[in-house]
Amino acid sequence: MKTIFLVYYLFYLTVVNSQSTCDDMSFVDRAEWGARKSIFKANLPSKSLPFYVIHHSADPSNCYDDASCTKRVQQIQYRHQFSLRWFDIGYHFLIGENGKVYEGRGWNRRAAHSSGWNNDAYGICIIGDFRKASPNEKALNALLSLIDCGVKQGYVKEDYYIITHRQTQRPGYTECPGNGTLDVVSKWPRYCSFQNSGARLKGNETQISLALNFCEKEFPPSL
Ligand SMILES: *[C@@H]1O[C@H](CO)[C@@H](O)[C@H](O)[C@H]1NC(C)=O
Ligand SMILES: *[C@@H]1O[C@H](CO)[C@@H](O)[C@H](O)[C@H]1NC(C)=O
Repeated sequence: MKTIFLVYYLFYLTVVNSQSTCDDMSFVDRAEWGARKSIFKANLPSKSLPFYVIHHSADPSNCYDDASCTKRVQQIQYRHQFSLRWFDIGYHFLIGENGKVYEGRGWNRRAAHSSGWNNDAYGICIIGDFRKASPNEKALNALLSLIDCGVKQGYVKEDYYIITHRQTQRPGYTECPGNGTLDVVSKWPRYCSFQNSGARLKGNETQISLALNFCEKEFPPSL
């Protein structure tokens, strides 16, 4: 009897608790924003990823209401599929300054957001230009809820790291996600300051192995 209760209790703790974090966010799935079909779908090779990579869209510009954010997400998918000839919208998720999280490729699929990182990182794009101004509080809160949701649901490792698009590529490759985003995100507890040096990789090195090494040193395991 006691065992059964304990099993139920553990089930309650893991399932119900993890849902409550995810329920904190206002989520718009692909059907709701009118996504076009994926041209091809590839699954992520591993179950729990170590990184979140933060992007901004720069163009299309900021959106503050549901109608314009929906239009921006559609526009980004159109460009990625038709101008860049990608299979689908490049990001796993997008966030508007209306405080909503839009499903891009979602948790299970490989995306196309940061060259060299697409097997190991979830790419999240905040819609708008944040080279100067920071994303508003609604967008940042949505981003934090999404980050937490991924960890609670096991898609992301407990000891995950947050980095930004510009850090994943050689210096000067892109300003993305803008200084305004970096100003905020770089103060978050799981932010890792790794920067791709642009140096040629040696032997079995990958940007991921270099970054993990660096970040693990920046975050010594807690005792
Ligand atoms: C962003 O910050 C860097 C230095 O931290 C600076 O060189 C660059 O001009 C800034 N970009 C903008 C658009 O303000
Ligand atoms: C890479 O190679 C070094 C030795 O050259 C080895 O010690 C290390 O374990 C290798 N790393 C991986 C991830 O295979």
